[in-house]
Amino acid sequence: MIFRQLFEPISSTYTYLIACEQSGQAILVDPVLPAWQRDLEVLQNLGLRLAVTLDTHIHADHITAASRLKLETGSAIAHPAVDALTCVDRPVQEGEPLQFGSVRLDPPYTPGHTDGHHAYLLGDRVLTGDALLIDGCGRTDFQGGDAATLYQSIHDKLFSLPGETLVYPAHDYEGRRVSSIAQEKQRNPRLGDNKPLQAFVDIMGGMDLPYPKFIDFALPGNRACGMCPDETPEHIQEYCDRISLTRQG
Ligand SMILES: [Fe+2]
Repeated sequence: MIFRQLFEPISSTYTYLIACEQSGQAILVDPVLPAWQRDLEVLQNLGLRLAVTLDTHIHADHITAASRLKLETGSAIAHPAVDALTCVDRPVQEGEPLQFGSVRLDPPYTPGHTDGHHAYLLGDRVLTGDALLIDGCGRTDFQGGDAATLYQSIHDKLFSLPGETLVYPAHDYEGRRVSSIAQEKQRNPRLGDNKPLQAFVDIMGGMDLPYPKFIDFALPGNRACGMCPDETPEHIQEYCDRISLTRQG
């Protein structure tokens, strides 16, 4: 298996490239709109064909590059079925693994950050999206988020994995790239050391986070599988992609 972790600095997002060496089929998990050309370069350098793009959830802090990459490569758009997006080619749900050549990806349903969030398990690695971050977790105060639900998802679907399972999050804001289930169970300040449910709910309820600056544009853009809304203001155009705006127009 080929595995690459790619960083996009505007939204501090990790995109994951996973591919089967034998068949040359590749998947991109959580591709980000301004970085689609980088993704194509990496695919080309590795001699891979993009079969599918796959998102962990409807993002609020960036727009997926799913549609742009489909336009460029013919890749299929996969996304959690529960979000019921009409632009999706391959709805994904727990219990129905995706297979690409020799690569198998299992999609455990992990709601709580959003109500449609899934993590993706690749043998001894798990892509945790925004459910579980390194020493943290995704916020739970919008998009159907719920702290108690997130606690249950993390405990039932992620902390139940073997301790040596490597944790690859969708974001990190301090340059950390990988953790493990054992490390998060032990030292995650919100969840580790057997933190009880009520303590977690209290932490999440007391965070007083600012309103996400891109959410009003990211949500409709991502419900359309990666279209930057026309009315996106100038000061946040960096989240979009002028080439795609003009070429798709
Ligand atoms: Fe998110």
